[in-house]
Amino acid sequence: MVCKLKIDTKHSVERFKENRLHRPAYLEIDLKRLAQNTKNIKGALGTNVGLLSVVKADAYGHGAYEVSRVVLENGADSLGVAILEEGIELRERGIDAPVVILYPEFYGREEKILEYYLRPTVTDFDFARMISEEAKKQGKVAEVYLKIDTGMGRYGISPEELLALVKKIDHLENVKIKGIFSQLSEAEGGDKENATEQIGKFQKALVKLKFLNHDGLIRSIANSAAVLDLPESYFNQVRVGLLLYGLYPSKELSNSIKVKPVMSLKSRVLFLKEVGKGSPIGYGGAYVTKRKTKVATIPLGYADGYPRLLSNKGEVLIHGKKAPIIGRICMDAFMVDVTDVPEVRIGDVVTLLGEDKGKEITADDLAFWSSSINYEIISRMGRRLPKVYLR
Ligand SMILES: Cc1ncc(COP(=O)(O)O)c(C=O)c1O
Repeated sequence: MVCKLKIDTKHSVERFKENRLHRPAYLEIDLKRLAQNTKNIKGALGTNVGLLSVVKADAYGHGAYEVSRVVLENGADSLGVAILEEGIELRERGIDAPVVILYPEFYGREEKILEYYLRPTVTDFDFARMISEEAKKQGKVAEVYLKIDTGMGRYGISPEELLALVKKIDHLENVKIKGIFSQLSEAEGGDKENATEQIGKFQKALVKLKFLNHDGLIRSIANSAAVLDLPESYFNQVRVGLLLYGLYPSKELSNSIKVKPVMSLKSRVLFLKEVGKGSPIGYGGAYVTKRKTKVATIPLGYADGYPRLLSNKGEVLIHGKKAPIIGRICMDAFMVDVTDVPEVRIGDVVTLLGEDKGKEITADDLAFWSSSINYEIISRMGRRLPKVYLR
């Protein structure tokens, strides 16, 4: 049995007016926190270590352009993206700092890489040659990064091949090797044996280049986890993503650098009803009420990046109180039990990620409930969600 709740429409209409400029489901991105996080990280590195900010995947869901501007103003000297299109977007919006495409690009995409002054990752001679030919056509010298695989097993040349590849590339007229980098596969665990081994291999490979006149090379292997706990991994550049966004890669790491979460996810109560005990809620009736229940419908779903695995599991905050998710997360909406939040009204702010009156739902909570990791939670927050920047 569904009982219509007495709704204070005047109150609701006023609330929605306030919100009319954007969808009542949105990301709040705190740029002041981002600036402070960047300063804290840069401050811990010392003067001879550069900070490349990783802004791939739309800056892990935070908005690549806005984030790039703030990090560059607060200590970062270059940016890292994953694919050509992400680099193009930054250039077209006026970012002129060095941008490295951290993953190897596909053959045939050299023209745009050069046109937009992006720095590609090179993992074989053929690609370097094609880059050189295109650079010559455009009257440029391409600045490239070599990627070596010291143990990640994803892509890159082996440390043993480095010397020979560098010698060959040195003969290409229109290519300059700007940097050499590698990626750690497990710096976030308590056991640092693998990471230390990778750092050792990286160091050894670099020593081999000593006599090739590459003194000014950028050398980089550290990610967020290594920045926190492995200062010997800094070389002359670190590449930081997650930590900038105010999250720690794991609980096993020290929080030697203090950062605060930049992203919150908020919505508003769209619909309220009261149902009797035994009422099915949502697809498949995957939840059946155990008591007379006040149900609020929240207008965002898994198409917005809110994990479907939170069905019948997660919680949200309303008026600083926790309200459990009931039933399955739909593509565009989900329901919560607000029986214990008697003051709830249509239009009230719902916090799905972030703080509300001293309580907090973290990306780690969402990750725990949905068997994921905080990286995935934030980077999948969809483009359909408007971003509200706090400056
Ligand atoms: C090549 C490369 N460097 C650096 C990073 C940054 O890692 P983190 O977000 O842990 O700092 C990533 C992220 O996946 C990466 O792929």
